[in-house]
Amino acid sequence: MGKIIIDCDPGIDDSLALMLALSSPELEIAGITTVSGNVPADMGTGNARKVLRQMGRLDIPVYTGESVPLKCSYTDAMDTHGRDGLGESFLPEVQGEFPEGSALEFLEKTLEKEKISIIALGPMTNLAKLFLKRPELIGQVEELVSMGGNFRSHGNCSPVAEYNYWCDPDAAAVCYELFGEAGKKIEMIGLDVTRKIVLTPNILEYICRLDPENGDFIRKITGFYMDFHWEYEKIIGCVINDPLAVAYFIDRSMCRGFDSYTAVAADGICRGQTVVDSMDFWKKKPNSHILTETDSGKFMRFFLSRVLKKEDGSRWREEELSLLESL
Ligand code: BDR
Ligand code: CA
Repeated sequence: MGKIIIDCDPGIDDSLALMLALSSPELEIAGITTVSGNVPADMGTGNARKVLRQMGRLDIPVYTGESVPLKCSYTDAMDTHGRDGLGESFLPEVQGEFPEGSALEFLEKTLEKEKISIIALGPMTNLAKLFLKRPELIGQVEELVSMGGNFRSHGNCSPVAEYNYWCDPDAAAVCYELFGEAGKKIEMIGLDVTRKIVLTPNILEYICRLDPENGDFIRKITGFYMDFHWEYEKIIGCVINDPLAVAYFIDRSMCRGFDSYTAVAADGICRGQTVVDSMDFWKKKPNSHILTETDSGKFMRFFLSRVLKKEDGSRWREEELSLLESL
């Protein structure tokens, strides 16, 4: 399946996405880059390392990316993800020597030497900066799966906009535009599909029974997020957006959708809105594949069977997780 870079802003659901990617043998993670989004990029770097420590994979390099959006002022999402970005779990920082260099340097060097896929789980600031400077490197991107945007579903931080694209609308607009010009498509895993992925207290309890170690980590980071969802959305549980992008990258049957030309509104009341030309008014070549349908049960079986380990270190098989259907 090949090599990937994960560009993210951990972030609670980013951390679950990293856990899933790290537990997936199909993926070779060349590096993780962080960007200011849920939390400032340097805090995101520390959080990515906390996840790597939990998963025993501190060998994977993490590079800190852009601290502010291309043009807008920066708005974090610590109200959703906690003051530490990991649900106020305040887990100890990982100490040690880490590789030097910025996210942009790492992305540029890697794409210069090889074709690689990118899974983007935060605002697209790093990617936009890179491709504005080196548009020819888009040709080196095997696939770009981006968690962000929304088609028919409403926004999560304005009536019409999803947070990642709202946080840096100019960056998202640039990426969609440049990918179109390069004749490529961005796989858009937006709120239409991610909203269906809800980690409920019952599923969390099951997770903790199946794997007390990783379960305890997941419990520590998601409690705050569940409280936030109850307070603002009256949901029992929490929407975990980012892991669906990883699952879809590995298994295309996880979501279904259609090709379309998409533009991102950069400012005004529609800031960050993805304008998806599903009826082909503009007669433009598609620059996106918009995912609109998913099967949350299938995703949960996939997620649990990969991230959770039995006492002997082996994985749970999907057939062993039938209890999920009643949770
Ligand atoms: C996206 O915004 C962030 O808060 C989440 O980590 C996810 O990437 C959902 O809108
Ligand atoms: Ca994210």
